[in-house]
Amino acid sequence: METSGFTGIAWIGRSAWAYPALESLHIVGIALLVGNLVLVELRVWGLHADLPMRALARAALPVSVLGFGLIALSGVLMFAAAPDELLSSRIFTIKIGLVLLAGLNATMFHARGGLAKVDRTARLQTALSLGLWVLVIILGRWIAYE
Ligand code: HEM
Repeated sequence: METSGFTGIAWIGRSAWAYPALESLHIVGIALLVGNLVLVELRVWGLHADLPMRALARAALPVSVLGFGLIALSGVLMFAAAPDELLSSRIFTIKIGLVLLAGLNATMFHARGGLAKVDRTARLQTALSLGLWVLVIILGRWIAYE
């Protein structure tokens, strides 16, 4: 990936190992985030009803937050390697918009106590959550092909 005039972290884009290492960290983060969210979302939809929701959430949600931390760290460093190029990328801009929307949806889900209620709204919000994260993954992969 061509680097911008911004030299601070431009070496990342030129490095034979740094950018692939960051992309790999990004993908590990995605696996931890989406993999653990899916477990909780399946439970909200009524699967594995014998699994106590609070115990499952206590185990899965901190790992998904760790995953998002890895994604954000690696994503910002990859962004910093070529900010001009990514800022002019329509797909990257839409992707970050969907990340913010997914974050807002998650905040509203927990603010209304979705894990305790497990009602129709909670099921809709978890379906929206999964849809948004899958869309973000598709757009993330698409950036390199724009
Ligand atoms: C938190 C903010 C995020 C930032 C700043 C960010 C930034 C980036 C950047 C700069 C790239 C590299 C584009 C390229 O070189 O082709 C990328 C790739 C990617 N991103 Fe993100 N991203 C973020 C969040 C996410 C999230 C939440 C997901 C999925 C849940 C995601 C999925 C992907 C995927 C699948 C790729 C392609 C990786 C590859 O081809 O190796 N990103 N992201």
